[in-house]
Amino acid sequence: MHTTPSLAQTQPAFSTAGALWLKLAVLYLIVGVGLGIMMGASEDFTMRPVHAHINLLGWATMAVAGLVYSVFPQAAASKLAKAHFWLHNISLPVMAVSLAFVIGGQRGLIPVLAFSEIVAALGILVFAANIFLNLKK
Ligand code: HEM
Ligand code: HEM
Repeated sequence: MHTTPSLAQTQPAFSTAGALWLKLAVLYLIVGVGLGIMMGASEDFTMRPVHAHINLLGWATMAVAGLVYSVFPQAAASKLAKAHFWLHNISLPVMAVSLAFVIGGQRGLIPVLAFSEIVAALGILVFAANIFLNLKK
């Protein structure tokens, strides 16, 4: 009779290295969906780009990053992952709020919006570098 435990018993299928990403992502999903429902109910779609990027950069991109980091915990442990986390999570709320104000007519906030977009894009490049350099099992 075999007494060796199966692989499934000795180690979980995935790590929880991306758990924080996933938790934050689902919060963005709640905000994004809430905004979507408000737009639909009011039939005022001016905040559509805010809704789109809260859902796409906040939910979709962050959830995928969380899953990538859970499947490849080595990539989650790197300095690049830490930089990715802070670049993304500081720039995105600034980007979402300043975009809403710029759409609302506060053109003076365009430099803030542009800066936050560049930082967000930088975070994506760091994510890309992390995937190319640290995606080993
Ligand atoms: C209950 C959930 C949701 C509601 C009620 C909702 C509602 C809306 C509404 C009313 C619009 C504007 C449509 C228009 O201007 O004609 C819109 C656009 C959009 N939504 Fe949502 N949405 C929801 C969830 C999501 C999710 C989960 C995502 C992404 C993961 C998403 C991505 C987008 C995008 C990208 C656009 C812009 C589409 C375009 O450029 O034409 N939405 N949504
Ligand atoms: C640093 C990251 C990003 C920046 C700076 C950015 C910037 C922009 C800008 C300036 C627009 C035009 C908005 C307008 O027409 O008012 C736009 C539209 C759009 N972007 Fe992005 N984007 C980023 C990331 C993404 C990502 C990751 C996705 C998808 C996963 C995405 C999907 C879209 C879509 C679907 C639209 C059309 C939205 C609408 O109809 O309102 N973007 N983006």
